[in-house]
Amino acid sequence: MRMRKKPNLIPRMERCSDYQIKDPKNWRGHWRELLSPDCQLRVELGCGKGRFTCETAAAEPEVLFIAIERVPDAMVIAMERAQAMGLKNVRFIDADVADLRDYFAPGEVERIYINFCDPWPTNRHARRRLTHPDFLERYRGVLTDGGEIHFKTDNRGLFEWSLFQFPKAGYELREVTRDLHADGIRGVMTDYEEKFHSLGTPINRCVGVKQPREEGQAADGRIFRVLFVCHGNICRSPMAEFVMKDLAEQAGLAHRFRIASAATSAEEIGNPVYPPARRKLSEHGIGCAGKTARQLRREDYENWDLFIGMDGANLRNMRRLFDGDPEGKCSLLLDHTDRPGEVADPWYTGDFEATWQDVLEGCQALLAELT
Ligand SMILES: C[S@@+](CC[C@H](N)C(=O)[O-])C[C@H]1O[C@@H](n2cnc3c(N)ncnc32)[C@H](O)[C@@H]1O
Repeated sequence: MRMRKKPNLIPRMERCSDYQIKDPKNWRGHWRELLSPDCQLRVELGCGKGRFTCETAAAEPEVLFIAIERVPDAMVIAMERAQAMGLKNVRFIDADVADLRDYFAPGEVERIYINFCDPWPTNRHARRRLTHPDFLERYRGVLTDGGEIHFKTDNRGLFEWSLFQFPKAGYELREVTRDLHADGIRGVMTDYEEKFHSLGTPINRCVGVKQPREEGQAADGRIFRVLFVCHGNICRSPMAEFVMKDLAEQAGLAHRFRIASAATSAEEIGNPVYPPARRKLSEHGIGCAGKTARQLRREDYENWDLFIGMDGANLRNMRRLFDGDPEGKCSLLLDHTDRPGEVADPWYTGDFEATWQDVLEGCQALLAELT
């Protein structure tokens, strides 16, 4: 958050210093002493000016809220707000989220809120996203079993990317929505949320629930079942299927994937891969013998982790068949790259080289994201 340096920051901080915890390491494992021994403890990461934490705390006085913010100029406004509201169940820490485990003991926190965190859109900066696997792993370290991360963002790219990270890091996804306020305001809004909502930007929200990890299971040890989807399953989606299989094989990761493809329409069912697509694959030493088109079925939703469509129509047809996408499994291939969008349909363009380039880039990005 860029803010002009606030005048009188120090005296202002002092005036509401009861709300600041200056020695958070000393409170590790003892936070509930601030309210009551059996209260719930929730932590907001990057609280900005604190509207969400203060209004949520006012609505739930029996819950203890700790908000972390690394910009004091923003945090002072949050502290002044808490003081003006006379809140007894809120404190603030001026710190970096990266150090969360220094401040909270294992299993001490019931819920974490991440509201409108900076999206850091380029791959180069992905590690700074507060939903990056490195951060999600840190949160696991302080959350109770079954503890929750409540995540809201206006940024669709960050949201779709994060939906992949949560399951990988051992969280079950719940309450996935891409338009939280479609039927009227739901829940307490943050400052950023109100701004984006008033501009007409849909708000994305999901909850990640911490799952127990089996003994010896690595943080990234799960198997991904990936189904590529296009209209006919004879050009783009089988290209993606066999490119992804090839990339996983080359990376020594084939055992971590189950990969296939399917059509949203019934037009080509039973037909082999379209010859120009087959030739394009074979130019790169990739075979697709034996593949015939099959249609996407409603029950596929239970049996696959990810449905990767090629264009907006594929996405709409998938969501119609599945009655929405309650677990956030559907996305577009190129949305996993730095240039989100659609893979043009070579059935109409005749340009199989462009399709190859898109499919290759998309599959490389997807593989990197999942491993
Ligand atoms: C875009 S603002 C959103 C503020 C607020 N959550 C809202 O929705 O109105 C992101 C906030 O997170 C803070 N922030 C980002 N990364 C952080 C980190 N690693 N540790 C602490 N605060 C961080 C920023 O200083 C900024 O105030």
